[in-house]
Amino acid sequence: MGDADFVRGLSCGIVKHLPRQFILRAYEERDREAVRQICCETADAGDPMNDWFPDREIFADLLMRYYTDWEPLSSLVAVAEGRVVGYLMGCRNTRRFRWAMALWIVPLTLLKALARGTLWHPKVRALLWANRHVSLWRGRVSLDGYPAHLHINLRRNYRSLHIGQHLFDQWLFEAKRGGIRGIHVGVNAGNAGGCRFFEALGFCALGRQICLRLPGNEQPIETVIYGLQLGDN
Ligand SMILES: CC(C)(COP(=O)(O)OP(=O)(O)OC[C@H]1O[C@@H](n2cnc3c(N)ncnc32)[C@H](O)[C@@H]1OP(=O)(O)O)[C@@H](O)C(=O)NCCC(=O)NCCS
Repeated sequence: MGDADFVRGLSCGIVKHLPRQFILRAYEERDREAVRQICCETADAGDPMNDWFPDREIFADLLMRYYTDWEPLSSLVAVAEGRVVGYLMGCRNTRRFRWAMALWIVPLTLLKALARGTLWHPKVRALLWANRHVSLWRGRVSLDGYPAHLHINLRRNYRSLHIGQHLFDQWLFEAKRGGIRGIHVGVNAGNAGGCRFFEALGFCALGRQICLRLPGNEQPIETVIYGLQLGDN
């Protein structure tokens, strides 16, 4: 299935009659700032990331640029009262994601961070130092079994209204139609609500890996890797 077919499936513009009314629709370029903002406000297990990273622009580039700029046709947003209140950013081919991150997005973001002075900020220097031994390449999921991945975040006041579940169901429908074999996600192990959400959707824990060390914290932040196989379609 090509990009155009996938996005056509996502863009059916469903209005869900939940306790409040929401529109789920395909991500569009005009949503870019909103999803970047939501990412920064929710990245720390649902809370803002400001405490440990001082530059939202750089942070959003690292976490969102692939989805918004390289694969914009695989994502969905939830809209309520005229504004974007949540997103599901999807990637159908994680190998492509890794190449794009390694060859383009991370190097360009580092240059940008250098130009903005972010790299010299004391918080960033402390973060880099604390993570000098953390390997980004350990404990990775099998991409043959789980080639796709996603991440999903909602503004605080719009949680527990089944918006997350509807976003996921819509994405899953298109993923199955597109012949995707499996999906994986990484969830902060301390994010009990996030873990429960994916378990409720049928995901199984595949393992854990150290994700980040925060300066001054003995315990590293661990990520639980969850997987969902979609079987033969
Ligand atoms: C996680 C998140 C995307 C879930 O979306 P949501 O719309 O709030 O969740 P839903 O209402 O669709 O929940 C579906 C099911 O997941 C489970 N669930 C969701 N949130 C839960 C929580 N905080 N605690 C326990 N179970 C939870 C429940 O079984 C729920 O079904 P039920 O209400 O019928 O019991 C959203 O709460 C969020 O953005 N949280 C902050 C950021 C985050 O944790 N992101 C995901 C990790 S990357």
